[in-house]
Amino acid sequence: MNILILGSGGREHALAWAVMQNPKCDKLIVAPGNAGIAKIADCASFDINDGGAVVNFAEENAIEFVIVGPEAPLANGVADRLREAGILVFGPSEGAARLEASKSFTKEVCDAADAPTAAYGHFTDAAQAKAYIREQGAPIVVKADGLAAGKGVIVAMDEQSALDAIDDMFGGAFGGAGAEVVIEEFMDGEEASFFILCDGKTALPIGTAQDHKRVGEGDTGPNTGGMGAYSPAPVLTDEIAQKAMDEIIRPTMDEMAKRGVPYQGILYAGLMIKDGQPRLVEYNVRFGDPECQVLMMRLGAQAMDLMHAAAEERLDTAKVNWADDHAITVVMAANGYPGSYEKGSVIKGLDGQPEDSKNMVFHAGTAAKDGDVIATGGRVLNVTARGASLQEARDRAYDMIDTIDWPGGFFRRDIGWRAL
Ligand code: AMP
Ligand code: GLY
Repeated sequence: MNILILGSGGREHALAWAVMQNPKCDKLIVAPGNAGIAKIADCASFDINDGGAVVNFAEENAIEFVIVGPEAPLANGVADRLREAGILVFGPSEGAARLEASKSFTKEVCDAADAPTAAYGHFTDAAQAKAYIREQGAPIVVKADGLAAGKGVIVAMDEQSALDAIDDMFGGAFGGAGAEVVIEEFMDGEEASFFILCDGKTALPIGTAQDHKRVGEGDTGPNTGGMGAYSPAPVLTDEIAQKAMDEIIRPTMDEMAKRGVPYQGILYAGLMIKDGQPRLVEYNVRFGDPECQVLMMRLGAQAMDLMHAAAEERLDTAKVNWADDHAITVVMAANGYPGSYEKGSVIKGLDGQPEDSKNMVFHAGTAAKDGDVIATGGRVLNVTARGASLQEARDRAYDMIDTIDWPGGFFRRDIGWRAL
């Protein structure tokens, strides 16, 4: 099979790495890719958010299966354009991608599906939003309705911060994404990520993970896209996962089908767990980044068969082969991230790294320049390892990091502390 993956991060490097291990893959192209991906697959450059451009490229290159990494092409209808052209694609339609692109849509679906989640109000008017905040009191959570690159959520511990967030959002801080807001009850508990493959009818859980969102050790400092992750997430026990499937995931799938927007692709449910009860925090319509890296490490070559089965609506007969293993990924980021950071610093020590089914350095924001690998993003490398225990995997990941020579970058030493 000729396969095209859309995206350029560590998530897409991990997807490409898993796909390349599957003998059914004849040719793999990743667009736009990065320096790490270029070592295992061909890279191509075109606008991946433009459905017409993606279809043209796929037709010209005899692509038979497209895997969409990030949410933006999905929210732009790229999967719809591919399906219209008769090209098999893994990823939801524009209508189904609203589960990530519109928080009020998701809340509405949860209401209809009777899925446990935070109580909420939906507002298009600042005065009404503020009145609701004053009535509910703090802590309270203010969310821009649309896609805001992970920055549209303010968890306000006091009322004034929530009121200020309303001013920011209606003042245009998030552009169009803030013209509507969802205000939610603050949920207490432990967060975990649950990943479910869906083919419109069948939902198949493929793993759990937890990530570290804060930039600093001890989970302190500003929020980031994620500084590290591990799988499985011990807090998401089999029993709680089953509860989440029965009370949240399947009812959501059924409701989406009923609305004429069946969900096909990976559904990433952010859950808040307290006293054995999961509640939905949010849905994403893509793999998490860096959660994907640990999931791919654990699934290996079967990941491609599973995504292919989802695209062909064959999940009812698909099975996940579990190994009793643990994986961890540690993010190396450019100094200054998540604030402003320099690009172009040289990374040394990558050539000698092991690259096998237990150890991989996935590239997130790199490019090749004059024979060197240089940093081109905020999150730059994902040093990933798998082992019989989380401790074993973690020790190996940090051993690898210690041989990477990159004065322009930093990482957290405590990834996985909660589970250990
Ligand atoms: P989201 O973009 O919706 O995932 O929100 C980002 C983060 O904000 C989540 O991962 C949670 O840590 C936090 N968060 C969002 N909604 C709530 C809520 N209702 N209660 C508590 N924390 C929340
Ligand atoms: N690591 C969090 C996310 O991908 O949204």
